Order: sequence, then structure tokens, then C-alpha cells
Amino acid sequence: MRNGGGEAVLEARDLTKVYAPRRGQPPVHANRGISLTVHKGEVVAVLGPNGAGKSTFLRQVAGQLLPTSGTVRVCGIDVIASPLAAKRCMSVIPQECSPYDSLTVEEHVRYFGIIKGMDPRTAPGETSRLLSEVGLTEHRTKLIRELSGGLKRRVLIALALAGPGNQLLLLDEPTTGLDPASRRTVWKVIESLAGKGRGVLLTTHYIDEAEYLADRIVIIAQGRILAEGSPLEIQSRSASKGRLDIYDVDLLSAAAKAELDSLKGVWPVSFAREDHLRLAVPDPFSPEAVARLQGLSGLGVKATLAPASLEDAYLTIAGEMPET
Ligand SMILES: Nc1ncnc2c1ncn2[C@@H]1O[C@H](COP(=O)(O)OP(=O)(O)O)[C@@H](O)[C@H]1O
Ligand SMILES: [Mg+2]
Repeated sequence: MRNGGGEAVLEARDLTKVYAPRRGQPPVHANRGISLTVHKGEVVAVLGPNGAGKSTFLRQVAGQLLPTSGTVRVCGIDVIASPLAAKRCMSVIPQECSPYDSLTVEEHVRYFGIIKGMDPRTAPGETSRLLSEVGLTEHRTKLIRELSGGLKRRVLIALALAGPGNQLLLLDEPTTGLDPASRRTVWKVIESLAGKGRGVLLTTHYIDEAEYLADRIVIIAQGRILAEGSPLEIQSRSASKGRLDIYDVDLLSAAAKAELDSLKGVWPVSFAREDHLRLAVPDPFSPEAVARLQGLSGLGVKATLAPASLEDAYLTIAGEMPET
């Protein structure tokens, strides 16, 4: 584990949320007993398909939604009994949220920061510090409408850090809709915030995001935790421990095709495209697997052997769960 082991900033116990029936529909059991702890300096990523109950969980932690049952404490404060005090030590960036177009970056963080409790006398200095923390200093005089999606997301993060409450940062899908380069700049900001001792709880459906950012991954589907652990621990839960990828399958010689057909009898196909085949290998480090790879190479086949990825494990754990 990179971080963690510090004091708990979030302790959720057995949180359930049942949304009341609407328009003749049955009630929705969005969270079915979720227990989760986040420590100072730790990034916990809640990973799961659409409809898994990620936003519902986050909104209950944030004190925006009353749980049907269960308890949640932030910085030791009961969120249900004392929501105002609890909200003072956390910051939330909701899933669908964008800053106001017609303000500059600096104005946005300063004005909304003051509304959030930043002291107006120290606001200009505080705003500069926040903008520098999220790498926006050079963009401070630009209008929000002139910014890319990644920079807008960083404005929201700067604002979330304004005022007194930021020991726990809650980010609901912080990079959804951003291009790959912008996503990485947001990751860097999140990483540096955790490095300064804040606890971070984020939701995502991007496996690479969880792998990059999280000290601990919690996979949820249909309102339940299916698995929890470090990226490495989750990775080791893949059904097969390795993968053999074979490329240019449509161009193989007759001998190579025969060898491949025999391999398909030994290891199941986990992915197939006209020109790319992937076989699930139980142990990619075994002499048998290495010998098979060498056999393919000897026949001029482009093939690689690798340990299973976090995505393989995710699909093993949550793969067959339908969206709700
Ligand atoms: N306000 C609501 N009223 C009724 N059902 C809701 C409400 N919000 C979410 N749901 C349902 O609860 C389930 C979980 O939703 P959500 O927490 O938004 O999942 P996620 O964020 O993982 O996509 C879904 O089936 C969704 O349709
Ligand atoms: Mg959501």
C-alpha cells in the first residue's frame, strides 16, 4: 500500500439506501450494506458499472442523502446527527457539475470560496495558493468558458479545497468525459492532494484511473461490495493468472494455424477479433506457457505472454453484472 494506515477520516458502516417506488416502479435498492473506511493520505476508488450505486454512496457520505439505515462518520463526526459539522471537514465534487462560464478562474474560486467559508480578508492570497496547488496559476485570468474540460475540472477541485473543510475529498467520476491527456493532469492533482495527508474517496468506471490513483479499490455492483483490496490484491483475483495475445491472426501460416488450434484446446479464448486473439493462461510464468510462446515465435507468430491485468480481474469479479 502506498498510503493509508493513518487516522480514519471516513467510516461508513452498513449503509443502505432504498429509493421509494416511483410511477408504479418497484423500490430501488441502490446500496445494500456498504461498509468502507478511508484514512488520512489514502486514495480509495469505488469502481463499478453504471447504476452500481456509487453516486448514492457518495451522496450519503456527503450528507446530501439520508441513508435508509447504517451509520457514517466523517472526521469522527456523525453525518446523520450533525450534518453541518461533518460537512465542515469534507469537500464534494458531484458527478454532474461545471463552473460558471462567465467568471474568470480566479473570480470563480474566490467568490464561491467565500460562500464556502473562506475568510474574505485572506481570500485573494488563499485563492492564489489554491490555484497554484492545482496548477492553474497561468490560467487565472481566463474566462471559464475558454478552458478545456480538464482545466474546468481543476477549477472545481481548487474550489473544493477552499475554506476550512477539506480533510476528506469526495470526487464523483472526476474525469468522465475528459480526453486522456486531461485525465492525467487531473490524476496528478488528486495524487498531490492525497500526498498532503487528505483522504480521497472517488468513484470511477475507469479501471486505469483506479489502478493509477488508488491505494485501495472497492468494486461495487448492484449496491454491494464485491471485492476490496490494493490494485495488486484485486489483480490476483482474476480467474486466470495470465494472458497470451496473438496478433495478425488472419495472416498466419498453415503450421502456425495448426499450433494455434491445438493451443485453443488447452487454454480458453478470452477475447477474439479477426486479427487478434487472447487466450486465458492459468500460469504465465510456468515452463509450459513459456515453451508454448517460444513455439509460436519459432513459427513466426507475433505473440506476447503477460500476467492478467486489473481489467481481467475486474471482469472476473463484476463482469457479468448487468447495468441497472
Ligand atoms: N433519486 C433517485 N430515485 C430513484 N432511483 C435512483 C435515484 N438515484 C439513483 N437511483 C437508482 O439507484 C441505482 C444506483 O444509482 P447511482 O447511485 O446513481 O449509481 P452509479 O453512480 O453507480 O451509476 C440506479 O438503479 C439508479 O437508477
Ligand atoms: Mg454515478
